Amino acid sequence: MDSEKENLMKEVVERLEKLYDIRKESDLRREVSEKISEIYELRKKKEMFIPGKTKVNYSGRVHDEKEIQALVESSIDFWLTLGEKGLKFEKQLAEHLGMNKVIVCNSGSSANLLAISALTSHLLENPLKEGDEIITIAAGFPTTIAPIIQNNLIPVFVDVELETLNIDPNQIEQAISQRTRAIFFAHTLGNPAQMDKIMEIAKRHNLYVIEDNCDALDSKYNGKLTGTFGDISTYSFYPPHHITMGEGGALATNNHTLARAITSFRDWGRDCYCQTGEKDTQGACKNRFNHKFKNLPEGYDHKYVYSHIGYNLKPLDLQCAIGLEQLKKLSEFTKKRKENFTKIYETLKKHENKIILPEWYEGAEPSWFAFPITIRENSGFVRTEFVKFLEDKQIETRMLFGGNILRQPGFENIKRRVVGDLKNTEYIINNTFFIGVYPGLTEEKINYMIKCINEFLSRY
Ligand SMILES: Cc1ncc(COP(=O)(O)O)c(C=O)c1O
Repeated sequence: MDSEKENLMKEVVERLEKLYDIRKESDLRREVSEKISEIYELRKKKEMFIPGKTKVNYSGRVHDEKEIQALVESSIDFWLTLGEKGLKFEKQLAEHLGMNKVIVCNSGSSANLLAISALTSHLLENPLKEGDEIITIAAGFPTTIAPIIQNNLIPVFVDVELETLNIDPNQIEQAISQRTRAIFFAHTLGNPAQMDKIMEIAKRHNLYVIEDNCDALDSKYNGKLTGTFGDISTYSFYPPHHITMGEGGALATNNHTLARAITSFRDWGRDCYCQTGEKDTQGACKNRFNHKFKNLPEGYDHKYVYSHIGYNLKPLDLQCAIGLEQLKKLSEFTKKRKENFTKIYETLKKHENKIILPEWYEGAEPSWFAFPITIRENSGFVRTEFVKFLEDKQIETRMLFGGNILRQPGFENIKRRVVGDLKNTEYIINNTFFIGVYPGLTEEKINYMIKCINEFLSRY
């Protein structure tokens, strides 16, 4: 055999071996996937509900074998750090929201930190400066407030409305000063805030609007998704939220400069905005060794130029693999959350003389995170009695997060401005709690919850 033939034979053998390996790996992967389905089915068979014994969680992860398969598949790939799955998740969530850009991160709290940090970026024409004010609410989650303080900005607290638990737009107007630069609030428990009024005020006063949409994915206001009104919106994928990655978060924006600032703060503060793994000549800037910075050697590798005081808040690709499966289930989850809410609401209506039921604005279509209940003053019982009764029946309850954040030990001495007396916020810290509506609540669990609630409230 001449050497040309010999080389050809060698090449054919190598290719066949490669094909065999690919085939073998794909067979092994299929086997693993089938085993996961078996494990999942085994676990599912064991699930049962014993009233009074089985815990009725307020929320939790809802999944099938697909999420576990996706996670294991991704772990076999062993890319680990943010990569292809993350990019795909960002693209799909952006499409769902109808936003230009989604940036994934490792939690909703990190998303909030990145959103506020981005507003201080030198990339903006008029970035926020130390001592600038951000209007927000005290009845909410601590890490909606914390990034304001962490960025040396001043939170200005306004009250919420008792029935919607949302920021009161009339108070926003009263709170505005020379230093006001932004409004930052959550759509409480999935209930959309009055976005038309808020956006009108923001426009008139040239203020940024950041929507903490962590509890409100898929809620709508006047036919438009919450999280798509302001300059930036944030998301949490911790298990109780509308979709989960275990831990995880994201930000959405239509503003290219803000997206770049967010990415930089997320990725160590680096100036380079090429995607992970992008080659220096193919990356977004196509200019890895040609940048000039005042105090750096000429052409210093752009990957190692730091133009923000940043963090590393990236999630793992493994998390995003789960997120991709969860996104497919989002509309089904939303439907179930709405149905569960309606069922509880209809039952509780007859007790309206003892409890304040949640209200929502005309044009709002909440995808509820939970069902809030506020005890009326003359109800004849206090919150602790109600909550203890339900917990004894194995029905999980939660407070409206920090209640009034200014009463929390870590926040007592923060620099702040308060507008008015926060009367409703004060009422909430003493009288409000919530129960679940999440898609994992089966009909028998919901019926059991309703039965127990009726039992307690009928005593008064
Ligand atoms: C309104 C709101 N914002 C932010 C967060 C923080 O999200 P994470 O737990 O992912 O940090 C939460 C958490 O539940 C939340 O409810």
